[in-house]
Amino acid sequence: MPVLARAQPAEDDAGFGVYVHWPFCASKCPYCDFNSHVRAGGIDEPRYLRAYLSELAHWAALAPGRRVTSVFFGGGTPSLMAADTVGAILDAIGNAWSVGADAEITLEANPSSVEAARFRGYRAAGVNRVSLGVQALDDASLKELGRLHTAQEALDAVAIARRSFERYSFDLIYARPRQTPQEWEAELKRAITEAAEHLSLYQLTIEPETPFHALHKSGKLVIPDDDTGRTLYDLTQEICSNAGLPAYEVSNHARPGAECRHNLVYWRAHEYAGVGPGAHGRLDIDGRRRATMTEKRPEAWLMRVESLGHGQITDDLLTAEERSDEFLLMGLRLTEGIDPVRYRALAGRSLDPDRIATLAAQGFVESGGDGFLRVTSAGFPILDAVVADLAA
Ligand SMILES: C[S@@+](CC[C@H](N)C(=O)[O-])C[C@H]1O[C@@H](n2cnc3c(N)ncnc32)[C@H](O)[C@@H]1O
Ligand code: SF4
Repeated sequence: MPVLARAQPAEDDAGFGVYVHWPFCASKCPYCDFNSHVRAGGIDEPRYLRAYLSELAHWAALAPGRRVTSVFFGGGTPSLMAADTVGAILDAIGNAWSVGADAEITLEANPSSVEAARFRGYRAAGVNRVSLGVQALDDASLKELGRLHTAQEALDAVAIARRSFERYSFDLIYARPRQTPQEWEAELKRAITEAAEHLSLYQLTIEPETPFHALHKSGKLVIPDDDTGRTLYDLTQEICSNAGLPAYEVSNHARPGAECRHNLVYWRAHEYAGVGPGAHGRLDIDGRRRATMTEKRPEAWLMRVESLGHGQITDDLLTAEERSDEFLLMGLRLTEGIDPVRYRALAGRSLDPDRIATLAAQGFVESGGDGFLRVTSAGFPILDAVVADLAA
């Protein structure tokens, strides 16, 4: 599998990301277990904005002086936010920290809430990249996934994204009920003709406590078996690589150099602040890595911020073991792999050479000329087992 052209930045030149979670959606998709909620009566957006600004000040006080390399508005459906709300949050981020001139500012958008004027507003507010939840290019699948848009509306949204932003990506879900390799091949090839530099391709997972979970359990929703899932995954890798969009992470494909810089911050285990209901953060304070999380329920988060100035409910100091496990878990998702020297610095011990040798002999990991340890294309489908073995 190809690896990223770019070397990892040194620790002191690492990225700092800001994740902003907007937890509201127009409707709840039956497969989704993200922290997303429908509020039929609408929400008081100016009141939420005030809370986001308060919480930002809280994170900036805890982690001052950082240079922001990426901001990501995720959800939920951030494309339901007013452009002024997005702009005010970006202004506050700029006041709290310094923001690099080349910072990547991404906003996730749902095709059912995309209009050209709305995208112009986001662009004027400072957004320079959008990620669209297309999910499928056929209407029957979109209906089954509970989406509010048709395939044509999704393609229209992609066209608006292309006209509005230099950088855009879209998501598709594959291994959907009854989907055959032939159908997926045609759909993916069609999608690639609409793609620019980046695609996120997720295999459908059945998440606990979702309507899909109940349907699946009762046999009313049948998804492709493991062998077909593997065929679909292999097909995805082959088609995307041939089209110049190799995987740089398990589910993410990009032209070399066009990887999502914000997600690289997570996978390279750098620092990020998480703002909004249920947002996670990883901050280095007094030389120790802290894992932070905020209250998940939007209204409870709002009230907490209004009384305390932030919605933070956890602040865990990570042990060397937790930190190095996380480093492996996240870093081995990337085709570039991990730097064993950085692992040793975090864990206080080296990876076990015998385990590496066994996994390498089985063809699941390899060492690159750069000294990085990476999972091979044969290892990716069993990534969890490979990571568990290395971390043991
Ligand atoms: C928070 S959503 C993205 C943006 C927006 N809310 C939307 O749906 O258009 C992130 C992405 O996760 C993926 N996703 C969510 N639940 C999934 C599941 N159970 N299986 C596979 N992919 C899933 C979808 O592709 C979705 O676009
Ligand atoms: S997939 Fe996107 S639109 Fe659907 S419920 Fe989840 S976050 Fe909301």
